[in-house]
This record gives sequence, C-alpha cells and structure tokens, in this order.
Amino acid sequence: MHLILLGAPGTGKGTQANILAERKGWLHVSTGDMLREAGAAGTVLGRTAKKYMDEGALVPDELVIRMLVERIGGPDAAAGFVLDGFPRNLAQAVALDEALAKASKAIDLALNITAPDDELVRRLGGRWLCRGCGAIYQEASSPPRVAGKCDRCGGELYQRDDDKPETVRARLERQKPPAALLAHYRDGGKLIDVNGLQPVEKVTEALLRAVHGTENGPK
Ligand code: AP5
Repeated sequence: MHLILLGAPGTGKGTQANILAERKGWLHVSTGDMLREAGAAGTVLGRTAKKYMDEGALVPDELVIRMLVERIGGPDAAAGFVLDGFPRNLAQAVALDEALAKASKAIDLALNITAPDDELVRRLGGRWLCRGCGAIYQEASSPPRVAGKCDRCGGELYQRDDDKPETVRARLERQKPPAALLAHYRDGGKLIDVNGLQPVEKVTEALLRAVHGTENGPK
C-alpha cells in the first residue's frame, strides 16, 4: 500500500501516520520530520529549510522532492509507506507519480483529514513532541502521564518553533491542501475525505476502513 495523508497543519497527519505505520508495518515518511532533522544536524538543506519553516511557508519544491524521492527509494519502503506532509501541491504530486512509475508503482489512496481552523489553532498551541521516539501529545486532550516526559520512551518533550501562535496562523493561511492537489487525487478516484474532528481512535477507524476498502477492492 502506498498511502498519502493530506490535511492542514494540526489535522492529525503525524499522529495517524505513526499509528498506521506501526499497525500495518509500513514506512512512515514525514517530510517535516526529515527537514527538522536536517535543521538540527546543521546541513545546508536544513539551514535553508528552517528559514521557510520559521515563516510558516513551504520549503521550495526542488529541495523537498529530491529528499522525498531518495527516501522512498530505500529498501525499507518495499512493504509500503504512508506519506505525512508530502505532496503539498500539484508539482510535488506529479513528481511523486513520476518517481513511482519508474519503479512500476503508484499511489493507491490519498486520505484528506479535515478539521476547522479554531480546533487546529487549539491543538497546535498545546502540542508536545518526544525528542527520542517522535511520539505526539496534546496537553489538553492527550497529555503525557508526567509533564515534559514521554510515556513511551522516557524522552524529553519539546514544542516546535513553528507552533508559536503567529506562525500557526501563517501556516493555516498558506498550507491547506490546494484545490488542484485534491482534484489530482479525486479525478484519479483515489481521494477520500475523513472527518478529523473526532477522537484519535475514531479517526484511525475511519482511515483503516478506507485502507481496507482499497486493499480488498477491485484491482
Ligand atoms: P510538517 O511537520 O509536515 O507540519 P504540518 O503539515 O504543519 O503538520 P503538523 O505536523 O503541524 O500537524 P499534523 O497534521 O501532523 O498534526 P499532529 O498529528 O501533530 O511540516 C512542517 C514544515 O516543514 C512546513 O511548514 C513546511 O515549511 C515544511 N514542509 C514539510 N513538508 C513539506 C513539503 N512537502 N513541501 C514543502 N515544505 C514542506 O497533531 C497536532 C496536535 O493535535 C497534536 O498535539 C496531537 O496530539 C493533536 N491531535 C491529533 N489528532 C487529534 C484528534 N483527533 N483530536 C484531538 N487532538 C488531536
């Protein structure tokens, strides 16, 4: 299965991609995580990307596409993958289709998670992430048992630089999935909308129903 999770910032792409990848044995590829890791490592890519990320803007396509295509070409993607944060626009979607076609593969399903802006602002303002394992918490709806410490691995929790209120507003203005991107997957019969304004487990159930429908459907 080659799956894409689409959705505005804070709709739960990372949360759900973590769960799906663990349950289904797929590779979870988050372009946001890859860019943040490059930033922490101080690479040229990471330093360039950070300027855009801190402004709530998208990183230029040529940087992100090359990074993503290399990642999904690795042997650990052979059992399938779930993409979280890629593609963000039609140019990225076309580049992804072309890269997969070279390996006689294609995207099977694009799941578009939706939720209203005021809920997304609330979620991102209280998001905490684990430096060790990448687990995602929300201080009101899914807090860690001990503040600042990961339940899963004991790692330190931190808040992202781009979760400051002014950057969240910029991200919500500039980074919702554009109509042309949604149309690309809808026209190919691959797009399913999922209501993200329900508890995490209910969203997971809805995503898995869509995945199983595609896995068992006509080829
Ligand atoms: P990225 O890291 O991909 O950020 P994003 O798309 O803004 O998405 P988020 O990670 O903020 O949210 P999410 O949907 O994953 O939600 P989460 O599960 O964490 O990208 C960061 C930056 O990198 C971009 O701004 C851009 O600059 C750059 N970039 C990345 N990819 C790029 C690309 N392809 N091209 C160009 N630039 C790119 O959940 C959010 C919070 O809500 C958490 O606290 C969670 O616990 C909580 N939550 C989740 N689900 C629920 C629920 N159902 N109910 C209540 N709370 C919930």
